[in-house]
Amino acid sequence: MDIQETVTREFTKKFGEEPAHMAHAPGRVNLLGEHVDYNDGLVMPAAINLATWIAFSPSGSDRSTLVAVDLHDESTFDMTGVKSKTADDGEPLSEWARYPAGMAWSLQEKGLSVPGMRAVFSSDVPRGASLSSSASVEMTFGKAWEKLGGWSLPPMELALAGQRAENKYVGMNCGIMDQFASACGEKDRLLLLDCRSLEYRTLPLPEDVAIVIADTSVRRTLVTSAYNQRRASCEEAVRLLQQKMPALKSLRDITVEEFNRLASLLPQETEMRARHVVVEIERTSRAIPMLEKGDVESFGQLMNECHASLRDLFGVSGPELDLMARLAQPIPGCYGARQTGGGFAGCTVNLVKKECTVDFSRILSSQYEKQTGLHPAVYICQASSGASIDY
Ligand code: GLA
Repeated sequence: MDIQETVTREFTKKFGEEPAHMAHAPGRVNLLGEHVDYNDGLVMPAAINLATWIAFSPSGSDRSTLVAVDLHDESTFDMTGVKSKTADDGEPLSEWARYPAGMAWSLQEKGLSVPGMRAVFSSDVPRGASLSSSASVEMTFGKAWEKLGGWSLPPMELALAGQRAENKYVGMNCGIMDQFASACGEKDRLLLLDCRSLEYRTLPLPEDVAIVIADTSVRRTLVTSAYNQRRASCEEAVRLLQQKMPALKSLRDITVEEFNRLASLLPQETEMRARHVVVEIERTSRAIPMLEKGDVESFGQLMNECHASLRDLFGVSGPELDLMARLAQPIPGCYGARQTGGGFAGCTVNLVKKECTVDFSRILSSQYEKQTGLHPAVYICQASSGASIDY
């Protein structure tokens, strides 16, 4: 049974009637431009064909009852509870409920109507795997409230509301990339976003190339605090570099050459973190003409370099991610392999010649399994369109 059928069936079971509406929003994979979105850099993600689906109806009040099928849990809260992060039973909102509640909070702060809903949702975006399961939940609920509230927002505005929910409500100081990709994805296209101007366009993915995602099946805790620390290091680097470059607003504003000249202003660890960002922004802009020309070989090389930089300079890889990337890179047909998203655990992204994907996936899975005893999930994925209301 597919997810749409599951949420419809569970909705009918729980609420005794068919849902009035359905919406969904995809996860994302990022090909290049990692940990640069909160440094005003360039990113190259794609929305993927794994998504969160929601079946929903208006509740007739400002009280929402949400059923999380995958977690076998439910939560009921009203708008007063949203503000105090408290469920109807007086208990603090459970962790998963903070994403929809944060979205409700953020939309209401924008002055939009957020009516209560009865909803059942489920997702095939693996949780905690660096494929933006949270952003896909936020964008799904954003779309649901858009339908019930009778307003409509441009996709980028919905993405910004989701980012605000994560930053100010959930406490994760993420950039805009994940919500952007989930809201603005386009079928069969990569996205290129300038995180400073928020201008974006799409880029072609050569016909004979597939994006393959390999999930290490490892998850880590405390990722949010490690992520927030990385962001703080980047901000510290900007503050210190401003001594010599007062006009510097973010690490987007310094070239690799200028950075090399001023690097001694920074403590060692801060220097490493900032160097990754400065070089990665430059790497991503070099990658644009490569993709436009269909030069996948050179693009893949940049993906490999990005992995090494995330591992050695930015410090967000992990033993399983390193192994997965190292095993993938020499397999025939693989142009490039690297960890994707926030890091520490979760998934790698691989660019693979289409005709080699089946063998590539088989060889990678069996080698990884042999070395770790862990069974990885491998997805041959399609770039997909962004969040939408289905009915
Ligand atoms: C997480 C964040 C994004 C981005 C990536 C790293 O996915 O949510 O904003 O910073 O990490 O590129």
